[in-house]
Amino acid sequence: MIEGGRRDTIRQEIIESLDLGLDLGMTHIDTAEMYGNGRAEELVAEVVAGRREEVFLVSKVWPSNASYEGTISACERSLARLKTDWLDLYLLHWPSDQYPIKETMRAMEKLVSEGMVNFIGVSNFDVKGLKLVEHSLTNERLACNQVQYHLEDRRLEQDLLPYCANRKIAIVGYSPFGHGGFPSPRSSGGTVLAEIAKRHERTPRQVALNFLTRHSGVFTIPKAARAEHIRENSGADGGWKLTEEDIAAIDRAFPLRSD
Ligand SMILES: NC(=O)c1ccc[n+]([C@@H]2O[C@H](COP(=O)([O-])OP(=O)(O)OC[C@H]3O[C@@H](n4cnc5c(N)ncnc54)[C@H](OP(=O)(O)O)[C@@H]3O)[C@@H](O)[C@H]2O)c1
Repeated sequence: MIEGGRRDTIRQEIIESLDLGLDLGMTHIDTAEMYGNGRAEELVAEVVAGRREEVFLVSKVWPSNASYEGTISACERSLARLKTDWLDLYLLHWPSDQYPIKETMRAMEKLVSEGMVNFIGVSNFDVKGLKLVEHSLTNERLACNQVQYHLEDRRLEQDLLPYCANRKIAIVGYSPFGHGGFPSPRSSGGTVLAEIAKRHERTPRQVALNFLTRHSGVFTIPKAARAEHIRENSGADGGWKLTEEDIAAIDRAFPLRSD
């Protein structure tokens, strides 16, 4: 349990971190109704207040709420917590085994027609699931699939990436540092990243983020609370690119595994 004063400090640090990210030109804020049981959205509201137009604001409905009525109510609750009238992107967090995807997508289209949501997306869907989603949408297109993507887990490059590129569905890669399990500088992969980073006067993490976003239509959402981490991550793009040789070296160091 965290005592009250400590909780307020953490809260303030998170707000300051998000603010710093926006100041540095990062625009995508990813949240969800299930993060902290709604408390994450309430925190984001404090940052978004007064600078809503700068933010690409994303939230997600949890699958057990993903009936037609449930999706609409979940979105209304998220908007109330976020103190905003609209979401830039609204995602179904995971495929639901409780509600047919057609029902969820009908609700998503209603939310778009009501101006509460600009774009519809999903998270953690495979190609088969995406096809069902696309088939369920009648007026809107599927804009995004948010999936895990880091150097040790490049499985999406096999089928998802080509499918999404072809269908113009953005891929937003989560956990780009493997939930904090970034390759150690002493590992063989870590050494490759360090060498490339040195050549570009960047850091290994900036190299990793640049690698993960090397295809157009692929984005990444590193989570960082500490100011120095946010500064570092914001330098992962903007005016520099990995060379083909760098990409080939990373490819060899972190091979695509299908399991
Ligand atoms: N759709 C889904 O099902 C799903 C599932 C999981 C996650 N997500 C999303 O993806 C986001 C990121 O995922 P994640 O938290 O699992 O993993 P992550 O981004 O791979 O790693 C986060 C960890 O890396 C640290 N970190 C960040 N930048 C760093 C830097 N420059 N140097 C050293 N350490 C650094 C962070 O530390 P500090 O915080 O101390 O800065 C934190 O401990 C989440 O915030 C969430 O929005 C989505």
